[in-house]
Amino acid sequence: MNKKFLVVPVVAALLVSGLGGCKKESTGTGLPQIGTTIYKYDDNFMSFVRMAIDKEANGKAQLIMNDSQNDQAKQNEQVQTMISKGVKSLAINLVDPKAAQGIIDMAKEKNLPVIFFNKEPEASALASYDKAYYVGTESKESGVLQGKLVADSWKANPAWDKNGDGKIQYVLLKGEPGHPDAEARTQYVIEEVKNQGIEVEELALDTAMWDSAKATDKMDAWISKFGDKIEYVIANNDGMALGALASLEKAGYFKDNKFMPIVGVDAIPDVLNKIKEGKIVGTVLNDAKNQGKATFELALNAANGKDVLEGTSWKLDDKKAVRVPYVIINKDNVSVGEEAYK
Ligand code: GAL
Ligand code: CA
Repeated sequence: MNKKFLVVPVVAALLVSGLGGCKKESTGTGLPQIGTTIYKYDDNFMSFVRMAIDKEANGKAQLIMNDSQNDQAKQNEQVQTMISKGVKSLAINLVDPKAAQGIIDMAKEKNLPVIFFNKEPEASALASYDKAYYVGTESKESGVLQGKLVADSWKANPAWDKNGDGKIQYVLLKGEPGHPDAEARTQYVIEEVKNQGIEVEELALDTAMWDSAKATDKMDAWISKFGDKIEYVIANNDGMALGALASLEKAGYFKDNKFMPIVGVDAIPDVLNKIKEGKIVGTVLNDAKNQGKATFELALNAANGKDVLEGTSWKLDDKKAVRVPYVIINKDNVSVGEEAYK
């Protein structure tokens, strides 16, 4: 009985490998193979992008999906392995945004197209290979929109100026240093608040690496150092906004009329719920669904030897990048965010 069951898979395996030997263009499914990496699965926002890619690929391609575990050397190995497995295109979420050239050099050798996504490579790297593209956003836009959110909410709530000096005493939780999104958000959120005619005073700024737990630790320390001097918490992403919220709740905020304005970026479902509860002022939609869709569509076209934009509605800018727009989300349009994370 047992033996009989064992024989079948062996024969099947022999058949498959036999067929594969003829022409190793695609797998047994007849679908083209696309090699994908996510910089780390343990990233809130990226888990939604990954789901979007998976969903798009259903029935159209066979994805090889890798968790690069925040380790660029590991990612380079994963890419090498996928290339030797005969993938037809690569969709790469870099660990280190400066590592694009290394990936391009590997791909170029096999004339293999590469679609980078989420972590924008240096323009010079993208320009060095005609089959390299980027799918993401215009990082600056998220900072500007978050700045508008801060400025508008501040103007609408004079009581938030607790010391009455007309300035926003803020703390800022930064994402990964050197990450184009983190750098641009940190710079432009403040520039925009100032452009709106509001003075600011930075009490503290530090990285929490996009991470909720790290943000809680930072916020704990800032609350014990500055206490009620803090008038606004600005986070480069929603994960860190949630971490700050947890810290503030521990410290007695969000009850007995004690409030702290917090803003994030991404519009992940947990934050949308907090916006509904009135515990987070707003966020900026980082459209996981459309970034996943665009990444997959370009990678699929590339895998099939077509023009990457064929049959899609995306446009490339002068850097060969597709940029999905950001949208301000507050309690009046939470559903726009919900739509993008379905
Ligand atoms: C950003 C996003 C962050 C984090 C990061 C990873 O676009 O806002 O939450 O996911 O990408 O590269
Ligand atoms: Ca003030």
